Amino acid sequence: MCGIFAYSGEEKCLGIIITGLKSLEYRGYDSWGIALKTNKGITLKKKVGKVSEIVDIREVQARTGIGHTRWATHGKVSVVNSHPHTDSAKKIYVVHNGIIENAEELKDLVQGDVFYSKTDTEIIPKLIAHFQKTDTFPEAVKKVVGLLKGNFAFVAIDRDDDQLIAARNGSPIVATQSGNNFYISSDLQSLIQYSDRAYFINDGEMLVYNPVTKSVEFYDFIKKVSIKKKTQPYDINYGNSDQGSYKHYMLKEIFEQPEKLSTTYNVNVNDFDIQFNYDLEPSLFKNIDRVVIIACGTSWHAGLVAEYWLESLAKIPVEVEYASEFRYRNPVLSEKTLIIAISQSGETADTIAGIKEAQKNGAQVLSICNVPGSTISRVSNATVFTQAGPEIGVASTKAFTTQLEVLFLITLYFAKIRELLSDKDITNYLKNLAEIPDKMEKVISQAAQIIPIMESHYTTTNALFLGRGVNYPIALEGALKLKEISYIHAEGYPAAEMKHGPIALIDRNMPTVFICIKDQSYEKVLSNIQEVKARDGIVIAVANVNDKRISKLADYVIYIPITIEELSPFLTVVPLQLLAYYIADRRGCDIDKPRNLAKSVTVE
Ligand code: AGP
Repeated sequence: MCGIFAYSGEEKCLGIIITGLKSLEYRGYDSWGIALKTNKGITLKKKVGKVSEIVDIREVQARTGIGHTRWATHGKVSVVNSHPHTDSAKKIYVVHNGIIENAEELKDLVQGDVFYSKTDTEIIPKLIAHFQKTDTFPEAVKKVVGLLKGNFAFVAIDRDDDQLIAARNGSPIVATQSGNNFYISSDLQSLIQYSDRAYFINDGEMLVYNPVTKSVEFYDFIKKVSIKKKTQPYDINYGNSDQGSYKHYMLKEIFEQPEKLSTTYNVNVNDFDIQFNYDLEPSLFKNIDRVVIIACGTSWHAGLVAEYWLESLAKIPVEVEYASEFRYRNPVLSEKTLIIAISQSGETADTIAGIKEAQKNGAQVLSICNVPGSTISRVSNATVFTQAGPEIGVASTKAFTTQLEVLFLITLYFAKIRELLSDKDITNYLKNLAEIPDKMEKVISQAAQIIPIMESHYTTTNALFLGRGVNYPIALEGALKLKEISYIHAEGYPAAEMKHGPIALIDRNMPTVFICIKDQSYEKVLSNIQEVKARDGIVIAVANVNDKRISKLADYVIYIPITIEELSPFLTVVPLQLLAYYIADRRGCDIDKPRNLAKSVTVE
């Protein structure tokens, strides 16, 4: 959350920083701000709203500057609370991502200073200025980082000193140098146009860039020692992030799913042989006695689907945990526990903390991640990358289905190593998996069948999503998609749980979306539909083609092709993504940047 972009070099920097911030806007978009170092001092520009809305901005003669796009944590959305923040003498300017948990306590050190904002960030420039009474700019920052509690990444500039200083503890930051130009950013994607190598800054590290000598120095502020660091290459072929002719990124990303699934399959499967490109010993899969999946949001839903697969096909006990709960729960772990961490961004603070907690307890961590070079891919013992390419819409779609695909491949790999499935069985499963992109293409090509449902229900205030077995997590995902982009309250439940509470909500105004495909629960789900109809509820069903019984019962049916039961989530989720999308669009919502959300949740 919050995007940071900083530059120091030979070019005029305003445009460079705005371009950087635009590519970081997915991290927060309630307000933005830039501080530019000029011959006359610091020029500050701040505004409430999205950085992508900037049309015209007066050029400033500055070659060093810092920028920020905000997702508010402390203090409401306002110009005053937007970054950069400064000290009382307006000498030090800071942009920050994270939360300084002891900001209030630290105010005792700068008594007499008047705080103009409600942010936790303002303490940083005030403290730097305080220590600068006796120390140099870098020495003052070293003292400050030693005092801060919580997660942070920040960049600071000084009106009277040319150096650019950044520090990291828990929130991401990367840097790169191209000739005499130095860039600092919250993510690698925004640096791709400048270099294919980057300095990966770890927690507890700070950097000081000197534009006069064109040199950068690194310091470990936990061990209190200078360190050496070299740039490392990273994958710049991660994919393009053009919106194309699509009205929204989310729609483009829904439509891209068949292609991204094919790529993910082809990268990991060769002639019906699953080969992951990582360093975990196959014996690990043989020796472990338990899997714990940790993730948040949509990635957590992917984990719930995998629980069904891993338990039924690989016969390994699985628990699926919200990463935020797992890390504070003192979980019982050992070398025989495999943690599977799932994250699109690879930067989710709770998931990173869960990984560290697991590793402390001796467990190995295999992560499933979409962003090369991200923190999660670097701290895990091994990573399998989803090949979804940049996902820009805040609502996750193609990352989810490619996560499912990697999880299914891991399940088969596990089952093979544990001698639970024969080569023939595995080939059979893989053949079915390889057919999914074409079948998904059919679902997408029939998206028009969702429009009348959207037209009749886009004004609803509540909706229920029900499914069973592997499609119970898809019901949760359908509800999450609808609420996050259309702001309609929605709940997902296992269909059989309806009668234990949610049935009280059913009336003639509330739509219930049933996933009712021809699997082992089909008859039971049909009975649940009857129960809703008996109470005058509205039923929208996602069902298999040629299902004549459902067409007589449900008010609306969205038909999808048939696949094996295990793989049905790939097809059932797409109509729910489209339903949420069309409803949100009809309601005029800001689909790619829904209110209050951010794509990458880097605070706890
Ligand atoms: C999905 O639509 C959400 N925006 C959100 O729940 C997301 O899945 C969650 O924040 C986890 O993110 P990650 O996969 O990047 O770790």
